[in-house]
Amino acid sequence: MCGIVGILASRPVADILVDGLRRLEYRGYDSAGIATLVNGTIQTRRAVGKLNALAEKLAHEPLVGTVGIGHTRWATHGRPSVDNAHPHFSTQVAVVHNGIVENYHSLRVELEDKGHVFKSETDTESIAHLITDYLQQGLTPQAATAAALKRLEGAFALAIIFTGHEDLLIGARRGSPLAVGYGENEMYLGSDALALAPLTNRISYLEEGDWVELTPGKAVVHDEDGHIVERKIHQTNLSGAVIGKGEYRHFMLKEIFEQPVVIGDTMNALITAENKLSMPPMPFDWKEIPRLSIVACGTACYAGMVAKYWFEQLAGLPVDVDVASEFRYRESPMVKGGAMVVISQSGETADTLAALNYAKKHGQKILSVVNVQHSTIARQSDCVVPTLCGPEISVASTKAFTTQLTVLLCMALHAGVARSHISEAKASEILQALREIPAKINEVLREDHKIQELSQNLADAKDVLYLGRGLLFPLALEGALKLKEISYIHAEGYPAGELKHGPIALIDESMPVVVLAPHDALFEKTASNIQEVVARGGKVVMFTDKVGLANMPTKPFWVSVLPETHPVVMPILYSVPVQLLAYYTALAKGTDVDQPRNLAKSVTVE
Ligand code: AGP
Repeated sequence: MCGIVGILASRPVADILVDGLRRLEYRGYDSAGIATLVNGTIQTRRAVGKLNALAEKLAHEPLVGTVGIGHTRWATHGRPSVDNAHPHFSTQVAVVHNGIVENYHSLRVELEDKGHVFKSETDTESIAHLITDYLQQGLTPQAATAAALKRLEGAFALAIIFTGHEDLLIGARRGSPLAVGYGENEMYLGSDALALAPLTNRISYLEEGDWVELTPGKAVVHDEDGHIVERKIHQTNLSGAVIGKGEYRHFMLKEIFEQPVVIGDTMNALITAENKLSMPPMPFDWKEIPRLSIVACGTACYAGMVAKYWFEQLAGLPVDVDVASEFRYRESPMVKGGAMVVISQSGETADTLAALNYAKKHGQKILSVVNVQHSTIARQSDCVVPTLCGPEISVASTKAFTTQLTVLLCMALHAGVARSHISEAKASEILQALREIPAKINEVLREDHKIQELSQNLADAKDVLYLGRGLLFPLALEGALKLKEISYIHAEGYPAGELKHGPIALIDESMPVVVLAPHDALFEKTASNIQEVVARGGKVVMFTDKVGLANMPTKPFWVSVLPETHPVVMPILYSVPVQLLAYYTALAKGTDVDQPRNLAKSVTVE
């Protein structure tokens, strides 16, 4: 999950490379580096840590050159260090890489036996020396690259420059995304279109196995069989403006507060003013679908778990939800005529993409819910229903999650009406409740100081348990994930009904228990769980509504009363307090909220 850029220009590129890397830093931030050709020879600047360390180094040791490559790293092989930072290079080649070369060790042994000297612990360095070896056999840069690609096993997106070739930049893609940017007499490579937005909005995307040779004003794309192919140039609508935090301290808080607007934008693309659904044309008839699979990773998978309840209750459609990393290897038999909903903010998650490809191979129609236009998952789907939440920079997903839920609820209602499982009137009633959600989220956001106060009680905890039932059970999982990924406190989500089957043994006064308990059909059951916890000295943090509080026999340690809403749309509303709780707990702990340790925004490696 690294970020790579490449620029072929007629002006100095070092600063432009760093700007591009800034827009990719959310993909990985262990170390960073750039390489350019100075009088035809490779020069590099590399630094450990965030991008600022590289910028600092360049301020003291500037780098000229009009062709160059850059990289921001999420370490896979070799700890974060200058030697392991990209670009990796020989005397003739410099390369930056996003992905994993699985046969790097055998290549390294072969190349060291031929006299190539390695300086790092990385898999990437094998690529640099392999291409060099072919150059030393007399191949051109293009032929050397093509020959080397055939020897690589695993996933890669590459940008490569060559000593003595100031008018050449080569890119390659297998398993990790790579975009080609078309400028005014300048050519670009980037892990995604966002990185290139300040430079161009004319973007094409390499397909699996493609490699591209960029020369001034020209791109020649070769497919994996060596045939020259055309790749469509898209006009993206991404803003070139640097995405800032505004008056917010972190992107995560900004993105939490953007939710009322982006949920509104997302639903307005799917619902008419008369509260009728206006979904894009489906690649199938919902009535003909015998079973639906839903696949995703992380937070996106929890959105899929909520959607399971909606599709089953509102559309009478049986649903299997899986984490992609399990589904892709299980050889699950797929129901003939079935469909799969794929959910992904980035549209580039390797496991999710692999699951999509498995389902496609087994005749499933693919419906995807993605946030990045033209992402790989979007381009490989039969139909895309986008979340319109704008770029999500914070590694912890918030606005993408609630807009995914918004899309999925509309999808489930669409299926329910099409399958005559619910009436149009019932669907309109729920859509009206959905329309009211942005205003109710604003009510919660206006009280965020209360959740900040509550978070002080979690900051010293070693473990936290989250409980929920029905539609709120996936929210318990999501709340636990948010807390652990940004505050580093171990947290676990559990179906409240499972408490007595083991987890109740954990209960004591040292472990906060967060319970999501709106006054819905299951409230009494969850209220009993709360009493079981309180009776054992447990510290219960309860999120409920006015009616729930009034019907609570015992007083929990802490209660946060949320606005009442229709039971079906509660998961969208209850996402916000658990996001805020995680954010303020992490703030209290002083962790790096937007770029938590060991994580990256888009997991494009397996
Ligand atoms: C969410 O907070 C995490 N950062 C992570 O679980 C994320 O949801 C997961 O990696 C899936 O990413 P995607 O939506 O881009 O596929």
